[in-house]
Amino acid sequence: MKNNRLAFVLVTTVAIAIVGAGLSFFFGRFINLAGIGGETMPMSLPPAAQQETAAAITYAPPSPQDAPASIKEAVLLGANILAETGKYAAPYVGNKLSCTNCHFKAGITQGGKNGGLSLVGVGASYPQYRKRQDYAVDLVTRTNDCFKRSMNGKPLPEESKEMAAIVTYYQWISKGLPVYAEIPWLGLPHLKSTHAPDKAKGGQVFDAKCAVCHGKNGEGTNAAPPLWGDTSFNDGAGMHKPANIASFVHLNMPLGNPDLSVEDALDVAEYVAAQPRPHFSNK
Ligand code: HEC
Ligand code: HEC
Repeated sequence: MKNNRLAFVLVTTVAIAIVGAGLSFFFGRFINLAGIGGETMPMSLPPAAQQETAAAITYAPPSPQDAPASIKEAVLLGANILAETGKYAAPYVGNKLSCTNCHFKAGITQGGKNGGLSLVGVGASYPQYRKRQDYAVDLVTRTNDCFKRSMNGKPLPEESKEMAAIVTYYQWISKGLPVYAEIPWLGLPHLKSTHAPDKAKGGQVFDAKCAVCHGKNGEGTNAAPPLWGDTSFNDGAGMHKPANIASFVHLNMPLGNPDLSVEDALDVAEYVAAQPRPHFSNK
């Protein structure tokens, strides 16, 4: 009899404990979702939902014309500087190039084939930390890298109307993109190949595929900007690195009909990079 009572008490205690634990687990979830625990939600997203977040980054830059009145003048000036750099930022340009010669359509493209170097999303991608130099690079510094090297010119003063216009333009064409999202269309994908570049073969590719627009001596024509010589980018430019020329050319050249094999692109890049051009000195 005594033993039966004891067993009853034990069973009841265990049952209450189980139901209690179940209830607190159940309601605990609600408390988590609705209140203080809310910020833990993204960390527990299942992989499928994370993929959905990444896929949601779509290319939809607004037009400069649609900028709100408060920034429209700056956005349009920024677009003009990128499209006709020698006209709108003359004192800072040391060659015959404009930003748009590499950053097609003043950067409003989806990159990839025929897109040149997109700038859509740079407003959400900077400042960036440069491990090699151990400092953070903002868009003013990055823009002046291209003025000093790609444009063989001088840095725009940080406080200038022109720099403010360029940075406002970047922000506007980056509208809607999440800050520090992975933006798939920025930058140049390096070509994967074990081919050893052949400069002499690259010269033949140049004569056959490039000279018609860029000139026999890479000096540029009415149809295309210079690739080397006094009026092109200097030897400190990103485009002077054979890997970057090869990738850019494979995706974009001949303009409108990029049809070079990976091997031909690597060869012609080696040839172009070996030609004379202004020397970069960081004064
Ligand atoms: C000769 C070609 C060339 C010209 C002209 C040029 N750039 Fe660039 N630019 C590059 C290359 C190459 C990169 C590096 C791309 C990469 O990271 O893969 C770059 C990168 C940039 C970036 C950073 C983009 C990113 O994805 O992080 C900005 C901003 C930029 N350039 C602005 C300008 C502006 C403004 C001008 C005109 C004043 C200009 N560039 C002219 C070749 C050029
Ligand atoms: C049909 C004419 C045409 C042909 C052919 C052509 N290009 Fe271009 N290329 C252009 C034009 C035009 C631009 C500038 C595009 C712009 O401003 O939108 C350009 C830009 C460039 C640039 C970046 C700007 C500069 O001057 O540095 C490089 C590098 C380049 N081309 C390399 C080549 C190479 C290498 C070949 C041969 C494989 C080639 N191109 C064939 C028309 C051509």
